[in-house]
Amino acid sequence: MAKPITTFSCAECGATSSKWSGRCEACGAWNSISEDIPLSAGPSGKTLGTARGKRVALSDLSAKEAPPPRTSSGLDELDRVLGGGLVPASAILVGGDPGIGKSTLLLQAAAAFAGKGLKTFYISGEEASAQVRMRAARLGLQNAPVQLGADTSLRDILTTLDEERPDLVIIDSIQTMWSDIVDSAPGSVSQVRAAAHELTTFAKRRGAAVILVGHVTKEGQIAGPRVVEHMVDTVLYFEGERGHQFRILRAVKNRFGPADEIGVFEMTGAGLSEVSNPSALFMGERGRPTPGSAVFAGIEGTRPVLVEIQALVAPSPHSQARRATVGWDGSRLATILAVLEARCGIPFAGLDVYLNVAGGMKVSEPAADLAVAAALLSAREDSALPPDCVVFGEISLSGALRPVGQTENRLKEAAKLGFSSAIAPEGGKPGGNEGLRLMRMADLTSFVGEVFGAG
Ligand code: TYD
Ligand code: MG
Repeated sequence: MAKPITTFSCAECGATSSKWSGRCEACGAWNSISEDIPLSAGPSGKTLGTARGKRVALSDLSAKEAPPPRTSSGLDELDRVLGGGLVPASAILVGGDPGIGKSTLLLQAAAAFAGKGLKTFYISGEEASAQVRMRAARLGLQNAPVQLGADTSLRDILTTLDEERPDLVIIDSIQTMWSDIVDSAPGSVSQVRAAAHELTTFAKRRGAAVILVGHVTKEGQIAGPRVVEHMVDTVLYFEGERGHQFRILRAVKNRFGPADEIGVFEMTGAGLSEVSNPSALFMGERGRPTPGSAVFAGIEGTRPVLVEIQALVAPSPHSQARRATVGWDGSRLATILAVLEARCGIPFAGLDVYLNVAGGMKVSEPAADLAVAAALLSAREDSALPPDCVVFGEISLSGALRPVGQTENRLKEAAKLGFSSAIAPEGGKPGGNEGLRLMRMADLTSFVGEVFGAG
């Protein structure tokens, strides 16, 4: 009989190889390669043979089946990110940096769902029951009907769950779970994969919703990396800047609702509280207009959100000028600087450039390009943008401005928050201006000319 093939995989990037090495060839990480232990031996022959299985039930696409009943937690920000509530028999992964507030969020969620009548279990592999109870007391949730467990043995946990038949199980965290069929340390790729596989199978088999907490590595990936993401139905990231009290729960994959939806929370002394009007919060203090600041009218999921983009441009004392960003992609910044230089003749060589999205928000929409360029130019020219003006539009490499979606929603939100004008790309769907003075521009050069009076 052929020897089973041994494979190795990297805990950082998930790349697989046929031999062990000290350094991952794919991502360059040291000491991250370990042997994969297969979950099951699988079929031994090359084919399934002649033994017959049982018939699989087939049905028409048009078969009438009620949509899955959802349970809402009553926490609007959480329900929206889940796509309108918790779906039974689903597996959800909540990732985030250590200390960002995942356990706090999920304990509050557990209490909320338990309050709606779901039989809820909270299994902590990281903290003792007493610690979880202490946190519950701090959150004022000590009387919530949530069952606590503190264990890391997957076999014991699954035995308990099979007997108790809960509606919702929270596993905090998947990295601490340990399966005795896999011969490697908790937190390794094969352990995480095995635990996620067993728990998602439990969810489907018993109709329970299972929420898995996963820590992300410094590269921002969930350890045991993408392997867990594709096993679950929904992937949520809990993010925020450490020094800020704002936290954003973002859906990056959702089989039961829109992806890219966000829920905004604020970390207070008594847990997370919901922020239902995030625009007010991401704009920083608005008073007199300051150079280097632009307000971007963005869309997060189905919601318009206004965010302040701040830039600082200063002569560099170093031979190589610095570019630093918070909340915005560094290479996208480089692209915009290059377009400004090549198409508008505005050089940034020899200048340090710092770009910051206010409030700890992360912006990845291409529509923010123009707001970033506006903030950069305003900082460089030391001249403030028109007050009460929002900016949005995508910049193409040719320097042309490309229209972006949902213009109306962006303008509506700006009008609601007291803005009086907007700078937007030409073209796109014609629509109302929602009471704002709308300046439409075809390319970056005309933007520079109109706003800063130079070409
Ligand atoms: P935690 O939920 O333990 O984070 P994670 O599970 O993601 O590692 O939250 C940790 C931080 O949250 C900790 O620094 C303290 C802070 N915190 C508050 O500010 N207020 C609170 O009510 C609670 C429970 C925690
Ligand atoms: Mg925790």
